[in-house]
Amino acid sequence: MIDDLPGGLTARHLTEEDHLRVLAVVDAWWGGLKGQAGALERALLLPRLYFQHFTTTSFLIERDEEQLAAFLVGFLSQTEPDAAYVHFVGVDPQLHGQGIGRALYRAFFALARSHGRRYVHCVTSPQNTASRSFHTRLGFTVSPVKPNYDGPGLDRVAFTIDLAAHPVRPT
Ligand SMILES: CC(C)(COP(=O)(O)OP(=O)(O)OC[C@H]1O[C@@H](n2cnc3c(N)ncnc32)[C@H](O)[C@@H]1OP(=O)(O)O)[C@@H](O)C(=O)NCCC(=O)NCCS
Repeated sequence: MIDDLPGGLTARHLTEEDHLRVLAVVDAWWGGLKGQAGALERALLLPRLYFQHFTTTSFLIERDEEQLAAFLVGFLSQTEPDAAYVHFVGVDPQLHGQGIGRALYRAFFALARSHGRRYVHCVTSPQNTASRSFHTRLGFTVSPVKPNYDGPGLDRVAFTIDLAAHPVRPT
C-alpha cells in the first residue's frame, strides 16, 4: 500500500477501531500546541465519522506490535470533482524527519490521481510552523492567514497543490 517506508513500519487503511487509538496520541504528537484550547480543537476535528465513512481514502502506519506510528485522514471532495482534501495528518515525534509524512502524502496523491483528482487542499493553524514548512517542502502553495476561517478565533492558512504540475513520485 505504501512501499517506501522505513523498516518495521506497515501501512493500511483506517478502520473504526482506530478511532480512540488515534485520539489518544494527537495531543502528544501535536506537542500540546495552543494549550487546552488546542487540545479541544483537535479532539473535535476527529469525530468517529472519519473512521466510519472516510476509511478507504485514509491511511494508518504501525510499527511492529501494532504501535501507532502515523496517520492521514483524507477524502475526495464531494463538491469539486477535481479536488481531494487532507483533513488531518500526524507522525509520531520519535519518527519525524524520516520521510513518513511525505510517504503518506505520496500515497494520498496517488489515490487522488487514480480518482481523477488534480488538486489537493488542506489547512492548518497559523501557529503550526512545522506544518507550514512541511507542506511547503512538498510543493504546496500557502495562503495568507485567513482570519476566523473555521469559526470565531479559528484562523487558518490554506495549502493547495496542483498534482498536474508535480511528478508522479516527488522525491
Ligand atoms: C508535519 C509532520 C506530519 C511531518 O512529518 P515527517 O514525517 O516528520 O515529515 P517528512 O520526514 O516526511 O518530511 C518531508 C519534508 O518536510 C520537511 N519538514 C518536515 N517537518 C519539518 C519541520 N518541522 N520544519 C521544517 N521542515 C520540515 C522535511 O525536511 C522534508 O523535506 P526534505 O525531504 O526536502 O528534506 C509531522 O511533523 C507532524 O506530525 N507534526 C505534528 C502534527 C501536525 O502538525 N500535522 C499537520 C497539520 S494537520
